[in-house]
Amino acid sequence: MLRLTGSSCRKLLPTSVIRAKDVYSRCYATLTQNSESTTPADIPTIARRLPKKEGTIADVFSFSANDIPPLPQRFAELKKQIYNDAIINSWKEVIRELDLVTEEISALGGKVIPQISYRDIVRGLSEKQKVAIRRTGTVVVKGGVPKEEALAWKQSIRDYAAANADKVKGTPPEHIVFYEIYNSKAQIAARTHPALISTQRALLTLWHSSDPSTLVDFSTPISYFDRLRIRDPGPSTFTLGPHIDGGSLERWEDPGFRSCFGRILEGRWREHDPFDGTPRINAKQDLYDAPNQCTVFRPWQGWTSMSTTGPREGTLRLLPMLSLSTAYLILRPFFRPRQGRLINGQISLAADDWELNLEGTEFPGSQIGKAQHLSEQDHPHLRLDKTLISLPQMEPGDQVYWHCDLVHAVEAEHIGKGDSSVLYIPAIPLTIKNAEYLRDQRDNFNEGLPAPDFPGGEGESNFVDRGKVEDIVSAEGRRLLGFSNFDVSANATDGSSKVIKYANSILV
Ligand SMILES: [Fe+2]
Repeated sequence: MLRLTGSSCRKLLPTSVIRAKDVYSRCYATLTQNSESTTPADIPTIARRLPKKEGTIADVFSFSANDIPPLPQRFAELKKQIYNDAIINSWKEVIRELDLVTEEISALGGKVIPQISYRDIVRGLSEKQKVAIRRTGTVVVKGGVPKEEALAWKQSIRDYAAANADKVKGTPPEHIVFYEIYNSKAQIAARTHPALISTQRALLTLWHSSDPSTLVDFSTPISYFDRLRIRDPGPSTFTLGPHIDGGSLERWEDPGFRSCFGRILEGRWREHDPFDGTPRINAKQDLYDAPNQCTVFRPWQGWTSMSTTGPREGTLRLLPMLSLSTAYLILRPFFRPRQGRLINGQISLAADDWELNLEGTEFPGSQIGKAQHLSEQDHPHLRLDKTLISLPQMEPGDQVYWHCDLVHAVEAEHIGKGDSSVLYIPAIPLTIKNAEYLRDQRDNFNEGLPAPDFPGGEGESNFVDRGKVEDIVSAEGRRLLGFSNFDVSANATDGSSKVIKYANSILV
């Protein structure tokens, strides 16, 4: 049987036909029935992704807890199905621990965010650095890309946007901050910059697989196209409040995603391992096929700075307590404050003033097809007013990465004098699903279309001077973007060598 992949199928049909869902599905179904396999037989291959509906970054976020409509009754049933008595003990312990850790973070302020030099990446992270990065779930890497180079990327993007001013989209539309630009030459240069690639490899290898046969290779980063932000000083009409990327209700609703938090739900929250890749491989973060939902396994979200930006200048804020905030978030839907237990008009944080809530459908801050929101009102024990810490001053070329479960936000104010500008570039390893995404992303890039997870439409296909494959200047860059084969390393596990062979078979 030939299980033809999306890209193989595309060679047989013109692009316009491929984009028609029914024709493509027929093509895929017929070919999978009639020919011989070209990919490892025990790995099912998924068809090419269909474009998402048109839109912007604003589509995935709600602006306040009041915007969130009640959930259907099935979510109360879901809570009952997941619940076990050990959850009560975990909840009490987590609340007690939060009381201590939130004080500590608040006192440390910006010092709590690990900051390393790119030289540390080159010579290898120390154990102390690894512990700090794992505990907080974030790291700032200074000095990887020369300032002049990062500033030149920004100028090149400004020129590209100006040359295509009649077609550029973004949010807010009247004065764009978040550009729906994915295929500029500057983004290609940044994504394939050696300092970014080696930083990403170092951070990905902080992850591991509890089962060595897991189909993931953490030593092989691949590229995930995302958008960019260029924000001028002043208040913004669109800022991102506290949230976690990668779906919301899916954390409980999808059995694969839920298994990533299995120990928390079994009452063993201290044994939760946020860096175990094995359960992540089967997590589905996008049950509702919404645009802007990251569908791949993205261990580290990140950005690279194109400006000199400090606190209160529209920068990133992070909640640097990875395991504890995750445990709290996962347990939170099972509890509610007891009626009338207020202290000075505020909800009491004492564990005894909270009760089980298995009857209500509430999953605080969760909404179908949106990112996971957090707020002081819905998640009071996190004390977000004190614990969301702004990044220290970042210079052009500095990078920041944060774990996929980490709560983050963007500062609402920008009282600085210059722009606050970043290229969103995460660290992503090779997996089966990620390789298939890379194939589709590469094909979209060839046509100037938005990357598959992002709002669809013609994107930059009619822009002048967009990035092309010939703008990738290194062999490693071509590999990262899916244009040439990956190498199997000497110390590859069974799982990683299998995933590399699979990727090579579908990317050719
Ligand atoms: Fe985010």
